[in-house]
Amino acid sequence: MEKKWWHGKTAYQIYPKSFYDTNGDGIGDLKGIIEKLDYLKELGIEILWISPVYLSPFADQGYDIADYCAIDPIFGTMEDMDRLIAEAKARGIEILMDLVVNHCSDEHPWFVEACRNPEGPYGQYFYLQKVEDGKLPCNWRSYFGGPVWERIGQTDWYYLHLFHKKQPDLNWENPKLRQEIYRMMNWWLDKGIAGFRIDAIINIKKPLPFRDYPADREDGLCDMGTVLEDAKGIMEFLDEMRDQTFSPHDAFSVGEVFNDRKEELPDYIGDEGCFSSIFDFSQTVEGKSPLGWYACKRPGPDAYKRCCFESQRRAQGVGLFSNIIENHDEPRGVSYYLPDYARNVKGKKLLAAVYFMLKGLPFLYQGQEIGMENMEFSSIEELDDVSSRFEYQVCLDAGLDEREAMKVISQYSRGNSRTPFQWDDSANGGFTTGKPWLLVNPNYREINAASQERDPDSLLSFYKQLIRLRKDPQWKDTVIYGETLPVLEEMSGLMAYLRRGEKQEILVLGNFNSQEITVPLKRLEKEGISGEALKEAVREGRILLNNCETLSLEGESLRLQPLQAAVIGIMHKND
Ligand code: GLC
Ligand code: CA
Repeated sequence: MEKKWWHGKTAYQIYPKSFYDTNGDGIGDLKGIIEKLDYLKELGIEILWISPVYLSPFADQGYDIADYCAIDPIFGTMEDMDRLIAEAKARGIEILMDLVVNHCSDEHPWFVEACRNPEGPYGQYFYLQKVEDGKLPCNWRSYFGGPVWERIGQTDWYYLHLFHKKQPDLNWENPKLRQEIYRMMNWWLDKGIAGFRIDAIINIKKPLPFRDYPADREDGLCDMGTVLEDAKGIMEFLDEMRDQTFSPHDAFSVGEVFNDRKEELPDYIGDEGCFSSIFDFSQTVEGKSPLGWYACKRPGPDAYKRCCFESQRRAQGVGLFSNIIENHDEPRGVSYYLPDYARNVKGKKLLAAVYFMLKGLPFLYQGQEIGMENMEFSSIEELDDVSSRFEYQVCLDAGLDEREAMKVISQYSRGNSRTPFQWDDSANGGFTTGKPWLLVNPNYREINAASQERDPDSLLSFYKQLIRLRKDPQWKDTVIYGETLPVLEEMSGLMAYLRRGEKQEILVLGNFNSQEITVPLKRLEKEGISGEALKEAVREGRILLNNCETLSLEGESLRLQPLQAAVIGIMHKND
């Protein structure tokens, strides 16, 4: 694998609306991010992905863009943005913008013009279809519910929107549109950003011509996942994008790719791939149901482990996944993946260690480093989110009552990760002096950054250690490039793996059980891990990380306490 500038870094996602508010309007802003750069630097962050801050009517919280080259006034100005880029750089932090180009806003001038004159040049920027007999061009279901077609005023024309009706899809088949997008991307790259997180990108290639698919619910519509399986040829667009934007800038790009087929991974993230990396969503989709959230099942520790290891195997020799436990579209990782008995500081450190030490580029989502948890939402009115509203209705239609539906929403909603950052134990968690746009989780008095900064045993301090290890000259080569080899994979509740480097190995051990577990050294020997080498590592102080005071390694066995996580450095014998 060719070495790249970003390989050894740690990335962090900011959801600006909820990060830090400097003017008391209850909404986080760019100045707020600038003010917290020192906090991020102290944590060890070197890449910052910023969710959309462009001009937007906020039908989908900024993922509906009305002008790609303007900052929405609720966040600040372009001068603030330029200052953010410069101030971040001065601290060794690179910025990634969120690239939302499957669709724009219905208030974007391109779409306004397309509606005015569907047969003119801007009509070709979108998917516009004339419907005369009332029969829509196809029966696809929008991700946020209902058909993907919406009528333009009182005309015979309809436009396609895979997401909200205020998010018309851009027509990537039109080379003119593609050139406009690349020009805009280069404009941002020339400003000094390091690259992009690329939103919803698998949707840009539609299977054409439009046709119906077998309906999969009573609404007579078909899920987009099924439809997109038929879409061939996306790489022509993505390779072109890489050649005209990323490559000349040596930019970093990370794609939101959900449906990559096994054989396609090299096309995405290989040395010649279109992107630097894509997110590993295998744990995210595990247990999801096509029927809706009410029919989903949270993965337990064994399912979680299976997903991680499967992805590590797939990426081996190909490239690097970007690893996450949460983002702005998911519930909080500690609430989602940890069993109830593990939702405490020890359990949170365990989840942190086992995901962070995997091969790939680790991303943290704001608040993850302090262990922010899901919210108990009591009414759908508390949420300002199109997808939660749609899923709430799906629950009711399936026969759940309001209380049951809200329980489902509180478990799966992306509103969970969007509650304001908990900076300290003052009012509103120190996020704003005004009225926060979304409820602050009342647990901010116990869970907040200020108290954890003072505490060497806090989750925040543990994340700092994990990030430091990634940069440690003695270990970093193995942490970044070492192959991942699952260990004792069949042992329930244990997530263990080796990262194999040239002169050393790193053993990662995590016990998700509520009971202590005993691992006979003989069984480790069978997997190529010498008991002697392990004992030597402990004797010589190479327990690189541990969420417990001790590690019990005596006689013929290794014992792990409930929820213990340990990372051990092992030197190869002949050096
Ligand atoms: C992506 C974003 C999500 C948004 C959607 C439409 O999945 O992460 O927040 O709603 O695309 O842009
Ligand atoms: Ca503000």
